[in-house]
Amino acid sequence: MALTERFSNLPEYAFPRLRALLDGHAPGGTPLSMSIGEPMHPFPHWVGPLIAERQAEFGRYPPNEGTPELRAAIADWAARRYGAVVDPETRILPLNGSREGLFNACLALCPETKRGARPLVLMPNPFYQVYAVGAAAVGAESRYLPATAETGFLPDLDALAPADLDRTAIFWLCSPSNPQGAVAPRGYLDRLLGLAERHDFIVFADECYSEIYRDAPPPGMLEALAATGADPERLVVFNSLSKRSNLPGLRAGFAIAGPEATREIRSG
Ligand SMILES: Cc1ncc(COP(=O)(O)O)c(C=O)c1O
Repeated sequence: MALTERFSNLPEYAFPRLRALLDGHAPGGTPLSMSIGEPMHPFPHWVGPLIAERQAEFGRYPPNEGTPELRAAIADWAARRYGAVVDPETRILPLNGSREGLFNACLALCPETKRGARPLVLMPNPFYQVYAVGAAAVGAESRYLPATAETGFLPDLDALAPADLDRTAIFWLCSPSNPQGAVAPRGYLDRLLGLAERHDFIVFADECYSEIYRDAPPPGMLEALAATGADPERLVVFNSLSKRSNLPGLRAGFAIAGPEATREIRSG
């Protein structure tokens, strides 16, 4: 049987690599679960009764664009958390977990060519595998930007060549980052949006760890968008209840994007 080679050049997924690294070592000390990264804490106690109360609705397909109540609740959260004014009608897209959105947004928004060349998709390294899978699916070139101790665990924006930025269609930012836990300061976010404006690319901000912090809430891209006055079409933010509310099984995520990008992703 002929199988597609589309995904065979992707770097091996982190978990098999980790397994291979650990395989040769005899276990010692208290085991630490380093598997898929499931929440270690219970989800809010009122979720179960609410689901039971609404169980009849599970017999129907939900609307593609989510219910007005859900979109309004997401817009209210964005306003409370980031002071961002987001129209729930045109800029919010509920998702079955953010992962499907990470992939679909790439399909919907990565052009076939950028300035006459194969587009670049920039992403931190290490990275969440779906970033590279999405880029491979649309035939874009993935560029892995080191996010190591030397770069403060975030891609070094000064290390990017202007010619590469001109060819960039999508820049993936994960802040707070997985797996390093680095938080991009506001200045970094503003600068990145400035680069997006100057070089005409979209920032895909994976912020699913935004509510996991000790002291001050990490800044988010929606704040940077409001402060810099950048075009809302320059940014797609992804979030979900999987980490913040310990509910990965619920598959409740969302994207906030410009009206045009929201329409494009929704129609896919
Ligand atoms: C960095 C990152 N982004 C996105 C996701 C996807 O989360 P979900 O689809 O549950 O919202 C995960 C899940 O582990 C993740 O670690």
